[in-house]
Amino acid sequence: MSPRALSLLALHLHDGEHALVRDVSLTIRRGKVLGLVGTSGGGKSLTTLAILDLLPPGVKRVAGLVALDSQPVEPATLRGRIVGLVQQAPRGGFNPLVSIGRHFLETLACDGLRGAPAWEKMQGLLAEVGFERPAEIASLYPSQLSGGMLQRVMLALALARDPLFLLADEPTTDLDLVVQARLLDLLEALVQRRGIGLLLVTHDLSVIARLADTVAVMDQGRIVELQSAHNLFEDPAHPRAQALVAAHRALYA
Ligand SMILES: Nc1ncnc2c1ncn2[C@@H]1O[C@H](COP(=O)(O)OP(=O)(O)OP(=O)(O)O)[C@@H](O)[C@H]1O
Ligand SMILES: [Mg+2]
Repeated sequence: MSPRALSLLALHLHDGEHALVRDVSLTIRRGKVLGLVGTSGGGKSLTTLAILDLLPPGVKRVAGLVALDSQPVEPATLRGRIVGLVQQAPRGGFNPLVSIGRHFLETLACDGLRGAPAWEKMQGLLAEVGFERPAEIASLYPSQLSGGMLQRVMLALALARDPLFLLADEPTTDLDLVVQARLLDLLEALVQRRGIGLLLVTHDLSVIARLADTVAVMDQGRIVELQSAHNLFEDPAHPRAQALVAAHRALYA
């Protein structure tokens, strides 16, 4: 049976001098959206990267486990096939000298998919993220696409191996509001259509209000609040969560 939940248990990260993330536990459930919010530098990105053992040099996991349905797993083995990753500022995630199509073919080859079936799958993925002429997009190079288009391509690439879970770190931050809204619609549809479990990292509470079922608030390397999105807005408990909600209300009042 395919796993229903991806958990991070008691994660501690250290840079040799300081603790960067302390005792962080999270569970991402299939078909649900877990929002991760908090102050800049709070540890959201490192926590996300730790799930796939993609930490930057100098940052060490000193404790913590990743588990599928409570069974501990080796994080690196989850990459791509079980867990997809979408990061911010997509231009840096592409090789500028390689066409969009080649990016897909290389990823699909990981599962032994080549030739016509690979082309077919790529076209389906590009169509799924809203491109009307997938073959045209495949022939272009990253520099020939806008930031919003690249963010959608990155999402399609993250879906290429049919992951059960998706980690999206600030996937809409660099985009204008219209493109942002479109990408959020797309993520919501993917959670519903594919039953993906989504971890959505954002500093934008309106994104949380729109998509998240449950929200974790991170501050200085710890999770200081974990509750339903509805309750976070109605009754934030921790001062950091209260401050975030107040700032959000001040912006949208
Ligand atoms: N490669 C690194 N080496 C050492 N410390 C790092 C490294 N990357 C991040 N940090 C530190 O770890 C802490 C958490 O960083 P992280 O990037 O996870 O925060 P974040 O919550 O994602 O912030 P933001 O909202 O700005 O993206 C910060 O204090 C940061 O300075
Ligand atoms: Mg970050």
